[in-house]
Amino acid sequence: MDDSTTMYQQADFILTDPQRYLDLDSWHRTAAWLRKHEPIHRVEADGFEPFYAITRHADIIEIERQPEKFPNTMQPVLMSRSDQDQVRQGGGTLKTLVHMDGPEHDSYRGVTNDWFKPNAIRRRMEARVSELSRKYVDRMMELGGKCDFATDIARFYPLQVIMSILGVPEIDEPLMLRLTQNLLSGDDPDFREGQTRAESINAGVAKFAQYFNEVTTARRANPVGDLASTIANGQIDGQPLDDVQTFGYYVIVATAGHDTTSISLAGGLQALIERPDQLRLLQSNPAFIDNAADEMIRWITPVRHFLRHAQGDFTLGTIRFHKGDRLLLSYLSANRDESVFEEPFRFDVSRANANQQLAFGIGVHFCLGAHLARMELRAFFRELLPRLESIELASLTEEIASNFVGGPKRVPIRYRIKPGF
Ligand code: HEM
Repeated sequence: MDDSTTMYQQADFILTDPQRYLDLDSWHRTAAWLRKHEPIHRVEADGFEPFYAITRHADIIEIERQPEKFPNTMQPVLMSRSDQDQVRQGGGTLKTLVHMDGPEHDSYRGVTNDWFKPNAIRRRMEARVSELSRKYVDRMMELGGKCDFATDIARFYPLQVIMSILGVPEIDEPLMLRLTQNLLSGDDPDFREGQTRAESINAGVAKFAQYFNEVTTARRANPVGDLASTIANGQIDGQPLDDVQTFGYYVIVATAGHDTTSISLAGGLQALIERPDQLRLLQSNPAFIDNAADEMIRWITPVRHFLRHAQGDFTLGTIRFHKGDRLLLSYLSANRDESVFEEPFRFDVSRANANQQLAFGIGVHFCLGAHLARMELRAFFRELLPRLESIELASLTEEIASNFVGGPKRVPIRYRIKPGF
C-alpha cells in the first residue's frame, strides 16, 4: 500500500472519529495531505451518511459567502446515523441560530446583534471581564503554584462571563457547567451524562428549558440591561419571541460561548509554555496581546467544523455538487492552510495576518460572540503576563475526544505568580 492510499483511508477517519482528535499531529498531517492532493474529499465512512470535506481556506469562504446556495438547515453539525436517529426520537434538536437560514435567521439574529457589537460589548462587559480575569489569576495564586489550568481556571472564567450576561447567579455555576458540557462536548465520555452523545444532548435540553423559563419570567418582569433582558423582551415583526425562540437563544449563547473560549484560553497558554520565546515576546511587548488572541484562536480552532447543504448544482474546483450534498467546512484544516498562513505550523503571536483565521466562520453565521471571546482572552493575558514569574508543564497534557468542539482537556502546570496591584 503506498503513502497516498494510506492517507486516503486516514482521511475518512480524521473527519468522523472523535478519537483521531487525541493525536493532533497525525490529524494535521492527514489534513495537509488532503489540502494538497484532494482539497474537496468525499467521505463514505461506516455509520455516517456521505459528505464532502472542504479543507482549504478559500473554498470555505466561497461556500460561506453564498448562504442561499449552501444553507445550514436543521443539521449544521456532523453526527453519526445512530446519533441522528436518537436526537430525532428525543423530540429533535431545538431550533436556534445555527439551524436557521434566510430571513428567519436575519430577523432572529437581529434581536441580539447590536448587543454584541464591539462598542456595545466594550461598554457593557469590559469592566466585568477585567474583574473576572483578575479573580481567576488570583485563584491561580491561591492554588499554590500548581493546577490543571484547563479544569481549574480556563473552564470557569468564560463560564462566569456567560453567566453574567445571561443573568445566572454565581451559586448556579455547577449546574451551568453540567448543562453546557452535556450539549457541546458529548463525544467525550468525561463530559457527558448519558451513554451516548444524543442522550446527553436530550438530557441537557430538558434541564436547560426548566431553568431558563424562570430567568425569562424574571427579566420580563424586571429588565436590567443584560443579554437575558434583551432576549426575554425581544421582538420580531412587532411580536414578542415565543418560548421556543427565547429558549433557543439561551441555549446557543450558553453553549457556543463557553467551551469554545475555555478551550482557546487553555490551548493559548499551553502554546506559550511550549514556546518560551513567544511567552517572553508577549511579556516584554504587551502590545502583541491583541494579535496573540487571534493567533491562539487560529492555533486551537476549538470549533472543528460546521456543515452546509447544497441546494442545487454547483461546481467548485473539479467537483460538482448536487442538491442535498452535505459539505463539512473543516475550520481546523483551513487555519493551517499554507496558501494563507506562512509556516502555518509555527505559533507566532506577531503573525501579521492572524486575524484571517476562520475559527469564527465567516458570512451570515459569523460568530456572534467573536468580539467578546477576543476580549476575554486579551483581558486574561493582560492580567496574567505581568504577574507571571515562571511557568512550565507539570505533566502530560490531554485533548478532548470530539469531532465538533475540542482542544486541550487537561493542561497541568507549575508556576510562580506575584500579587496584582
Ligand atoms: C474562541 C471562542 C469562539 C469560537 C472559536 C467560536 C466559533 C464559532 C463558529 C465557528 C460559529 C459558526 C460560524 C459559521 O457557521 O460560519 C459560531 C457561531 C456562533 N457563536 Fe461563537 N465562537 C466562540 C465564542 C463565542 C461566544 C463567547 C459567544 C457568545 C457569548 C458565541 C456565540 C455564537 C453564536 C450565538 C453563534 C451563532 C451565530 C449564527 O448562526 O448566526 N461564540 N461561533
